[in-house]
Amino acid sequence: MRHGFIGYGNVIKAIHAYLQKIGEKEFTYISRTNSENSIKCSKSINKLVENSDIIWLGIKPQNLDQVLNVLSKTNINEKLFVSPVAGKRITYIEQTLGQETSIIRIMPNLALEFGNSVTAYTTNNIQHKHKNEVKRLLQSSGQLIEIDETHFDLFTAIFGSGPAFLLKLIDVQKNKIRQLGLEDNQMNNMLAGLLEGTAAYYRNNCNRLSIDELITNIASKGGTTEAGLNYLNENHIDKHFENVINMAQKRSTEL
Ligand SMILES: NC(=O)c1ccc[n+]([C@@H]2O[C@H](COP(=O)([O-])OP(=O)(O)OC[C@H]3O[C@@H](n4cnc5c(N)ncnc54)[C@H](OP(=O)(O)O)[C@@H]3O)[C@@H](O)[C@H]2O)c1
Repeated sequence: MRHGFIGYGNVIKAIHAYLQKIGEKEFTYISRTNSENSIKCSKSINKLVENSDIIWLGIKPQNLDQVLNVLSKTNINEKLFVSPVAGKRITYIEQTLGQETSIIRIMPNLALEFGNSVTAYTTNNIQHKHKNEVKRLLQSSGQLIEIDETHFDLFTAIFGSGPAFLLKLIDVQKNKIRQLGLEDNQMNNMLAGLLEGTAAYYRNNCNRLSIDELITNIASKGGTTEAGLNYLNENHIDKHFENVINMAQKRSTEL
């Protein structure tokens, strides 16, 4: 399949790296600055469309209209669009394009590059010969879950933005362990181990124990974990964290 990327930022770079890893070979991109040398660049969106079967929309929500307006004047017959653009519904893309087009909307995160994304997708009813193939490609990029489009804003807050929120907590821990005077790469390794270890502990127990029970196993009476958890509970830090997610979800609905 021939992949055309409109925009070549964080998400498309991750998707490109992943697609290359699994053996896809034909790629073209266009961005505002066209400053990337490692991939074939197209002179215009028109040319990119002509040379692609799958068109990935890798632009920010605020740049989407501009791109869709150009696409609406282009021959997009027989093309399949994949959109990771936060907050923008399939019907909105269809209406702005003004043509019946096959579209898959996705919400991945940047772990997709390493086959570890948790990605949501939904699609319109317009058939395309490559639709199942694109789903198959995404299936091996981690977990792929079909959800109703009405849930995309919540999914975006938890799984699209989620890695940033978890990393913000890790950053607090990183700043603390600087006191150990270790090399940066050793600290990074240790913190990645903490995330992986927590994930393994959760994955191996979460179907028989609640998160409260998993926490209780770590917190002995009168111990260090309990002291930290008491502060967390007294200051309603879980409520604040919930609001972090609420704000991200709200922003997704506004976009
Ligand atoms: N980052 C994430 O973790 C994440 C996760 C899930 C979904 N998303 C969604 O994925 C989309 C891309 O996010 P990102 O983080 O990859 O953004 P980004 O790094 O800012 O990249 C945006 C790209 O769009 C290009 N662009 C802007 N206007 C353009 C135009 N008129 N024509 C062609 N290219 C244009 C930019 O080109 P120049 O660099 O040349 O200006 C840049 O390459 C967003 O809609 C976001 O909601 C992001």
